[in-house]
Amino acid sequence: MMKRMMMLTRTVVNRFTIVQSHSLRCHSQSRRQMSMGSESLVSRLKSCGLLQTKGLIGGKWVDAYDGRTIEVHNPANGQVIASVACMGDKETKDAISAAYDAFAPWSKLTAADRSNRLRNWYNLLIQHKEELGQLITLEQGKPIKEAIGEVGYGASFIEFFAEEAKRVYGDIIPATLPDRRLFVLKQPVGVVGVVTPWNFPLAMITRKVGPALACGCTVVIKPSEFTPLTALAAAELALQSGIPPGVLNVVMGDAPKIGNSLLESPQVRKITFTGSTAIGKKLMVGAAETVKKVSLELGGNAPCIVFDDADLEVALKGSLATKFRNSGQTCVCANRILVQEGIYEKFTSAFSNAVQDLKVGNGFSEGVVQGPLINEAAVQKVDSFVQDAISKGAKVLVGGKRHSLGFTFYEPTIIGDVKNEMLIARQEVFGPVAPVIRFKTEEEAIQIANDTNAGLAAYIFTNSMKRSWRVAEALEYGIVGVNEGLVSTEVAPFGGYKQSGLGREGSKYGLDEYLEIKYVCMGNMG
Ligand code: SIN
Repeated sequence: MMKRMMMLTRTVVNRFTIVQSHSLRCHSQSRRQMSMGSESLVSRLKSCGLLQTKGLIGGKWVDAYDGRTIEVHNPANGQVIASVACMGDKETKDAISAAYDAFAPWSKLTAADRSNRLRNWYNLLIQHKEELGQLITLEQGKPIKEAIGEVGYGASFIEFFAEEAKRVYGDIIPATLPDRRLFVLKQPVGVVGVVTPWNFPLAMITRKVGPALACGCTVVIKPSEFTPLTALAAAELALQSGIPPGVLNVVMGDAPKIGNSLLESPQVRKITFTGSTAIGKKLMVGAAETVKKVSLELGGNAPCIVFDDADLEVALKGSLATKFRNSGQTCVCANRILVQEGIYEKFTSAFSNAVQDLKVGNGFSEGVVQGPLINEAAVQKVDSFVQDAISKGAKVLVGGKRHSLGFTFYEPTIIGDVKNEMLIARQEVFGPVAPVIRFKTEEEAIQIANDTNAGLAAYIFTNSMKRSWRVAEALEYGIVGVNEGLVSTEVAPFGGYKQSGLGREGSKYGLDEYLEIKYVCMGNMG
């Protein structure tokens, strides 16, 4: 099943025509080379210019002003991959100034011009998909096929918004007086602070930066300190694609200082963030002082509901895909598997067999579909949730402990007899653990599913068309997968209800988040 999942994302990559760039001759590598040791991989990435370790401010690669650096580790073996500039408020202020100065010229380009440059960037991302995938596996840990799939997914936002750049239409409103003309213009909001997480080191950046740049905004990106290398490599390719200096800036290091500088600056007109609900709330409060626009894509607590009338094979595939993608480290991963009593035994037994077979290991090793978790804190959190559930009567069906590989590997786990009151069902586990909850009726399933502050993604498996509609409408979630566990795509709106966030990313709706609406009233036109 995981193989099918990787195939899906790879198909996205292969669908597009790849235009060769003249600017960088670092050719794609064979699969054989992907399993090479980290050191030779790092030196090769360095030699082709894709291992940047400085921040990008106004088109220049710069060290932290006080020379400080921060180590980036490979979660699969704890080795240091590189040391990157550890920046703070001074560098962030300069990055904001650079983005502010670049805003007027960038926003005044024609939409077609911005579109072409974004298209060039897309082409370069695809041309270097294997190197970028290797960087993702090195610093984030996901299996190489999944990492290359992320490059295709991430690049698709740049391609989509390169096209949408040309479709930012305004309106003419029928006038209320004969000598008046009323217009609506859509204009870019200005400088955008882009704060992104480690679980998708590329795609969470492109999903925000694609629409921002397409509209004419400029950006200051703060990638996660755990995974800055992919962001820096993508920024290098953006420079090569003809996106002018200052339009896209990257600072990383001291997260509170960078975050505060972005929040305090009146020149930053919008903050867009993907990450934890707790940090999202802080950013929202901080943005209030200067009344910035805010888009937040926060934590989920996705229910995956398997009804008695589901096709067992489809439900198994979908549940595996939505639970174990990226080792359970996505906001849309199933956090609770709700199974109706009539199919409970059959489903849990087949699910257990499939999960037992998931190969865990270093993402560069052949056949691995489950990589390490991002760090020790993540493993401790996952394990504490599992222990809490066990202490309250839940039963481990598969896994349930740290993996014998050590480091931050955790066994793919299924826990049965979970109750919705348990910690593991109340909070996002963000790891390869599937808690299974038994239910009797459709009403009960909907009640359990909605009994949470989160509302990002939900999944249902049923063969009944009527039930599909009924339950999809009743679920208080921004995204609902029906007989499908993989729902993310650049063409559809991604975002949540309740405390899972504000705004939508991707799709035509994603553009609105970066646009102001201006009403122009012209008098004396008679
Ligand atoms: C996320 O985990 O926030 C993003 C997942 C996705 O784009 O599918």
